Formats: sequence, C-alpha cells, structure tokens
Amino acid sequence: MPLVAVIVGQGYVGLPLAQATVSAGIRTIGLDTRDDIVLRLNEGLSHVDDLDDSAIAAMVAGGYRASTDASVVAEADIVVICVPTPLSVLREPDLGAVRSATEAVAPHLKPGSLVVLESTTYPGTTEEVVRPILESAGHSVGQDVLLAYSPERIDPGNQQYTIRTTPKIVGGVDERSTAAAVDFYGRFIDRVVVARGTREAETAKLLENTYRHINIALVNEMARFCHELGVDIWDVISVAETKPFGFQAFRPGPGVGGHCIPIDPNYLSYEIRRRLGEPFRFIELAEEINRGMPAYVVERLRRGLESRGRSLSGAQILLLGVTYKPNISDQRESPALEVGLLLRAAGAEVSFHDPHVEAWRLNGDSVDRVADLDSAASRADAVVLLQAHHEYDVDQIAERSAYLLDTRGISTTAKAERL
Ligand SMILES: NC(=O)c1ccc[n+]([C@@H]2O[C@H](COP(=O)([O-])OP(=O)(O)OC[C@H]3O[C@@H](n4cnc5c(N)ncnc54)[C@H](O)[C@@H]3O)[C@@H](O)[C@H]2O)c1
Repeated sequence: MPLVAVIVGQGYVGLPLAQATVSAGIRTIGLDTRDDIVLRLNEGLSHVDDLDDSAIAAMVAGGYRASTDASVVAEADIVVICVPTPLSVLREPDLGAVRSATEAVAPHLKPGSLVVLESTTYPGTTEEVVRPILESAGHSVGQDVLLAYSPERIDPGNQQYTIRTTPKIVGGVDERSTAAAVDFYGRFIDRVVVARGTREAETAKLLENTYRHINIALVNEMARFCHELGVDIWDVISVAETKPFGFQAFRPGPGVGGHCIPIDPNYLSYEIRRRLGEPFRFIELAEEINRGMPAYVVERLRRGLESRGRSLSGAQILLLGVTYKPNISDQRESPALEVGLLLRAAGAEVSFHDPHVEAWRLNGDSVDRVADLDSAASRADAVVLLQAHHEYDVDQIAERSAYLLDTRGISTTAKAERL
C-alpha cells in the first residue's frame, strides 16, 4: 500500500511539498480552507510562483487532489501542517490558522499516523499548542499519534536549491516521532538533519531568519552612514566579499519583505519578552532599522529632486518592481507598499511598472500601471528601482530618466544614483 499524505495549506510552502510527495510516489491530498484555490488546483491551475499550470496538471495526473473536507485525513499516514503564521495588528504571533488546522484534522487522525508542523513559529508551539489539541481529541501523543516539527526552508524563485537538495531539519516529541519524520522526508529529500527535539527545530528556523534580518539591518544602517561620508557602500561590499572566510555579503535595499524576514524574528522576540520579560535587543533594533528604510528611500528621493530644482510634492514618480524579491509576483510585506504610501502622503503622483504584477493598490486605490517603460521613464521626474527583476536594464533606463534612484545597487552608470 502506498503511503498517503495530507498536506494542510496549499500555498507557497504546502503546494511545492505536495508536488515533492507526489513525485516520491506518496498518494497526496492537499487540504485547504479556500474553495477557489481547491477548485483551481483540481483543474490543474497554479496560484504560486514556483509551480506553473503544467506542474499542477502533472500532479493531478499523478493522483494528487485538493479538498476542503478535513475528513480526508482519515486516510492519511502523514499529515503536514503548512498554514500561515502571520502577525496580528499588534504585531504579535497569530497562531489562529495553526490552531484551527490542528482542530480540523485531530478528530480524523487514524492510529499510527504522524503529524508534522511546518509553519514557522516560536519555540514550544508543537508541544504547547499542537499537542494539547491532539490530546483533547482523544489521542495519546507518542502512542497512537506521532508528532514532529520540521521547518520549511523553501526559497521561492531559487533555481539552485530545491526541496530535494535543501537539507531538512526534523525534531520529534520523542524518538518514534523523530524516526517517522526522518523516514517520511527521507523519501524525497537528500539530507534529513535531526534536531534534539521540537523546540530546537523550531528555534533553528528562527535563528536562520533572524540572522538574515540582523545582517540586512547592519548593511542598511551602514548604507545610510556611507552615503553621508561619501563612501560607496556597494563597492565596499563587493570588495569585502572577496574574503573567502568569515564574511557573508548582505546588501542594502528599500526594506525587508516577504513572509519570513519581517515576521519570523518577531515570533522569537515576542516569546522572549513573554517568557523572560526581556527585550531581544538585536531583533528589536534590526526591526527598527529595516522598517525605517522606506522612509529613508523617500527622503533620498526628496533630496535628489530638490537638488534638481524639483519638489517631491507634485512630482511624477515611477516605481519599478513592487514585489518583495526579484523575478516573482509575490507582494506580501513588500516595502514598495510603504514607499508608495509615503510618496502619496508627500503629494507625489505615483505610477508603477512590474512585469510580474498586473494590478497594484495603495490603501485600496489602484495605482497607474505603466505599459511602455521607456516613454514613462523619460516622462517621470524620478524613477525608483525598488526591485531588480531580470527584465530591467537599469543602466539603459537611467539613460532615459531625468533622475533614477537605484535602491538595489545594480546600476553601473554615473547617471543613476545608488542608495
Ligand atoms: N513562503 C515562504 O517562502 C516560506 C518559507 C519558509 C516558511 N514559510 C512558512 O510556512 C507557513 C505557510 O506559509 P505560505 O507562504 O505557504 O503561506 P500561504 O499563504 O502561501 O499558504 C497558506 C495556505 O494555507 C491555507 N490555510 C489557511 N488557514 C488554513 C486552515 N486552517 N486549514 C487549511 N488551510 C488553511 C490558505 O488558504 C493558503 O492557501 C508559514 O508559517 C510561513 O511562515 C513560508
């Protein structure tokens, strides 16, 4: 009998995981609360960047199906929970989806099944949030139901590292749970790494993302000071990164985006404050610096325009690239949003161009989408490169523009101003 897996949450994490399990010969059902997503998936249509329609059609041909009905869990040997873990309006962890997904699957779990939480979260969630829900549904965790945590490391758009080639951390609530998780992931991932327990596996993910958050904040702050000192930060980084050991290059930008860097470290700092009553100073400082970058970009733009005899108020500003990373369409937490809002608040007229985004809104108002980039760039008072999609020839755009502010440091012409 082939193994049966139910992957709960069919988004950026759950859907590629489902593709990997289907390819490994595991009968896979994708469970999601959104009817529209389930309907489209069953018709072979994708809604995430990393998988196109043909990949979903191949999954369906391989036996995959999507459902909104949690009773499909009754067939499952393995249930993997990949639901969102956002921040609330107060910027505190919101585990609502983890709780409701666990509550939905718990009554249907069959004896001997393995539940794995993959959602990024603070240390203790698997033991203190997921486990009690399973137990209150009558399961004896470690006996009839096994439980583990395994952080997802997917990097949307990354062509080099795939699910198979990215080592996977697992940590179970006990040895049997860990062994079952190692067996499951070992079927489609080259290297499975065992953490001491669920808390270590949960914290490893937060360390990885906090490390990025802090190092990005470091170069962002350095970029501001270097600019004042007349030092080219981009040149500094490119020569520093020739050191073959002890240094990893991070680059400044208009702020951090996506669902990891701006969110996950807050899960850690929140939990440290809640449990220990202390601030996680590094995280809070990095948060402050990175969240201040959109305002810094607008300030640089204001200064750049004034030095050209223009005021930001009334200026026509063309924003290039509104997604949070290059070459994908995902706009979640993109700093472009804050840049756009601040520009509008300053009285600028904002338009955008993005080959990956059809429609872009600021506080519900749709923003003019530019179709002809060359002529729009030559008409604008300023062009701001926010995202370095590979479609952009930034030097060429700078030649056509009255003023181009390059927040990604990829231009090489003196016509562009780098952050
Ligand atoms: N996207 C990434 O690059 C990435 C990388 C590593 C880790 N993560 C983490 O993985 C988790 C999932 O992120 P994502 O990017 O896949 O989110 P997503 O928003 O792309 O997908 C989540 C899916 O879960 C569904 N869902 C929500 N509540 C549900 C419920 N109660 N039951 C069933 N389905 C439900 C949603 O409809 C959606 O389709 C988060 O914890 C995130 O932090 C994401």
